[in-house]
Amino acid sequence: MQEQRELAANLSKRLINAGIAGIGSYVPEKVLTNAELEKMVDTTDEWIFTRSGIRERRIASPDQATSDLAVIAAKRAIADAGMTAQDLDLVIVATNTSDMLFPATACLVQDRIGAKNAGAFDLAAGCTGFVYGMAVGSQFIATGANKAVLVVGAETLSRITNWEERKTCILFGDGAGAAVLRPVTDGSGILSSKLWSDGSCGPLLMLPAGGSRRPATHETVDQKLHYIHMRGRDVFKFAVKVIEGAAVKALDAAGLTKTDIDFFILHQANVRIINAAAKRLGLPIDKAQVNVDRYGNTSTASIPLALGEAVRGGKIKKGDHVLIVGFGAGMTWGSMVVKW
Ligand code: UT7
Repeated sequence: MQEQRELAANLSKRLINAGIAGIGSYVPEKVLTNAELEKMVDTTDEWIFTRSGIRERRIASPDQATSDLAVIAAKRAIADAGMTAQDLDLVIVATNTSDMLFPATACLVQDRIGAKNAGAFDLAAGCTGFVYGMAVGSQFIATGANKAVLVVGAETLSRITNWEERKTCILFGDGAGAAVLRPVTDGSGILSSKLWSDGSCGPLLMLPAGGSRRPATHETVDQKLHYIHMRGRDVFKFAVKVIEGAAVKALDAAGLTKTDIDFFILHQANVRIINAAAKRLGLPIDKAQVNVDRYGNTSTASIPLALGEAVRGGKIKKGDHVLIVGFGAGMTWGSMVVKW
């Protein structure tokens, strides 16, 4: 522990902190309520709300792909940072629903926002993608290689949801969130980030067909293998198990403890997971941003959407220590501490 703290302290002396200079969000206009889902599958508003905390979610229009959502959130984040897209060195898009298998959605975004001087790549880490993206982007800032990195989490999960399967279709929604990372010199910014994976749990949450293992065929479509397959209860248990440890590791690496947390943002998958994590962390729920009631689980977009809301709502103030924890397919999980 002591060794880790010393290492973190030494590194922070030599490296440059990445701060969040701007945040942008976008959710599609169409709202799908639990009442409407009651007409589509055998479910009730009461079951959905009690088990997940979700009331409604947003659904992309037929002509909107993931990059369309990402572009709007990205432009808003760049404007919020007071920059132009040409100032960007790198564009990272974390997504599970890329427009196509290739080219990367990040390249489509790079082109559409006019980030002429930026490299661009997609990052696949399930719902932890935004945390992974921020961790990766911050390293480019820390070494001085880059001066401005755009990290986007964007999804059109409605396109890979089986709307006839009640155990999954009630959960997911579409949306996008983006952040611009820039160097900071006042001790604020990303103080620590930690990433983990356990590929042996991959079958808990996957999209079985459409890749090289099982290319799309009439048969895979008939078998509905092009949709999300999830063992919900196992994912739930997994999430509750890893969140506290992930939080403590990121806090340790930043030389902080649970009592230093001013605000926390968890991946918005289920309000019961957020409540259970808050209890284990000994934190009141009013220190957390919750939007799963309005947007459902938007995967990589959930954390930047929640972060943007909390910042705009004045819940996160200059100097606050913000804990962020994500988890998702892979399985992957990750945490970070940001000093605002
Ligand atoms: O981003 C990461 C990805 N995903 C997650 O984080 C999801 C984590 N998991 C969850 O949020 C929860 O497991 C769910 C909300 C998906 C499900 O809640 P649960 O309390 O774990 O329910 P369950 O899957 O154990 O199902 C309980 C019962 C079952 O009936 P039986 O077998 O007990 O008779 C289901 O068939 O509820 C039934 N059920 C439903 N009933 C009404 C499942 N879905 C529905 C539904 N409406 N939509």
